[in-house]
Amino acid sequence: MSNPIINFDNLKIVDTPEKHQKFYIETYGCQMNVADSELVVSILQNSGFAYSAKMEDADLLLINTCSIRDNAEQRVFGRLDIFRLMKKKKPSVLIAVIGCMAERLKTQLLEVEYKVDIVIGPDAYRNLPLLIHQAEGGQKSINVLLSREETYADISPVRIGSNHVSAFISIMRGCDNMCSYCVVPFTRGRERTRDPQTILNEIKNLSIEGYKEITLLGQNVDKYFWEKDQYGFADLLKHAAEIDSSMRIRFSTSFPKDLTDRVIETMAAYPNICKSIHLPVQSGSNRILELMKRGYTREYFMQRVESIRKHIPDCAISTDIIAGFCSETEEDHQETMDLLRSVKTDFAYMFKYSERPNTYAQRNFPDDVPEEIKTRRLSEIIDLQNQLALVSNQNDIGKTFEVLVEGFSKKSKLNLFGRNSQNKVIVFPALNYKTGDYVQVMVESCSSATLKGKSV
Ligand code: SAH
Ligand code: SF4
Ligand code: F3S
Repeated sequence: MSNPIINFDNLKIVDTPEKHQKFYIETYGCQMNVADSELVVSILQNSGFAYSAKMEDADLLLINTCSIRDNAEQRVFGRLDIFRLMKKKKPSVLIAVIGCMAERLKTQLLEVEYKVDIVIGPDAYRNLPLLIHQAEGGQKSINVLLSREETYADISPVRIGSNHVSAFISIMRGCDNMCSYCVVPFTRGRERTRDPQTILNEIKNLSIEGYKEITLLGQNVDKYFWEKDQYGFADLLKHAAEIDSSMRIRFSTSFPKDLTDRVIETMAAYPNICKSIHLPVQSGSNRILELMKRGYTREYFMQRVESIRKHIPDCAISTDIIAGFCSETEEDHQETMDLLRSVKTDFAYMFKYSERPNTYAQRNFPDDVPEEIKTRRLSEIIDLQNQLALVSNQNDIGKTFEVLVEGFSKKSKLNLFGRNSQNKVIVFPALNYKTGDYVQVMVESCSSATLKGKSV
């Protein structure tokens, strides 16, 4: 006897033996976690487990977690409450916590009150099937070993929930930067580069499957380096761009200290490498940058921005900011505001500093900026960034951009939305266009978040 289930990999009906479990997975955190969940789905399907898009139908509930800020962890604990309710209704359900919180909290997550059965860190996903079988036998199981080599290079991700237009590709794992506030080096382990051939093959396959855009992912893609062939990130970008000229190439994240002119020149040379750089600065104050151990100064950052502007005048620049880091003064804060004004950032992710256990900052500096001051500084930064984005968008009125359609606009089925090369969202009347099309759109109006226009 067998049950038909939908396999989201190829949208075919496949047969899965009845004894095999159905799993459900939720993902929190960064794009790398999204990519990791796709690997996990692949690993589980290859071991005979069946993917379920509905929590109610599953026997195994996985949650891929993030530790970057305290509120990210609180959100996951909130979801675990819901998972526990499911388990109460159906006691055979197993709960697995995977990803960065699994790595950070380890056996703490196996304490009885959480009712978690399996804990597995980002470098141990190949072990999931084994750990599930152990847990089925009633034994709580954990594997949080970090690796210096694991890149999952041979595993083909199963792109659940994808629009079949854009895909993420992890090109490296871990981070060696040790910024003083950050948990990632502890949750993701040492930096390592994935074999370029496996990346290029994955891009070729996506191109054959009709994907139109890929995003190369790493915590610091500029450190991508395949030792054996002395092959760096600029080489990878070039070869990725040459596979299919109708496929857009994006990447995230660039690190200011390591972003080279060669990478910028490669971006400039290929029309299908998108003209958008995410370059997190965190603070505009040299004193704070030093305490953050970022390894660059404000002046060095500005010089990188100038190089981008020189080689790619129409390049969008986005950034990340942390407000209220340890000992941050009003002057430091004003320097951050001033830097944003000078760069004219098109977009930013902005956060209040959240102290993370066992980081250098937690061990060495008091978290001494009062909460209300953090909140006020953050809202000033957000207001400023909204103004800068509005000005940047107003400058686009009258221009025509090539937009890759991602789907229907949330507000109306009469409109489609997509992005231009600069990664700006553009909404326009759908007419006969569809997801995955490239459409020339002339911008007619805007808000700080979106451009609106019509196809020409
Ligand atoms: N590797 C990337 C960013 C990864 S984390 C880089 O360094 O550029 C994404 C963002 O989260 C960071 O850029 C930073 O702005 C923010 N972040 C990291 N740790 C944080 C903390 N402890 N409190 C608040 N924000 C934090
Ligand atoms: Fe964290 Fe810094 Fe690494 Fe980014 S570069 S992940 S902020 S340690
Ligand atoms: Fe969060 Fe881990 Fe990514 S801590 S931001 S999911 S690397």
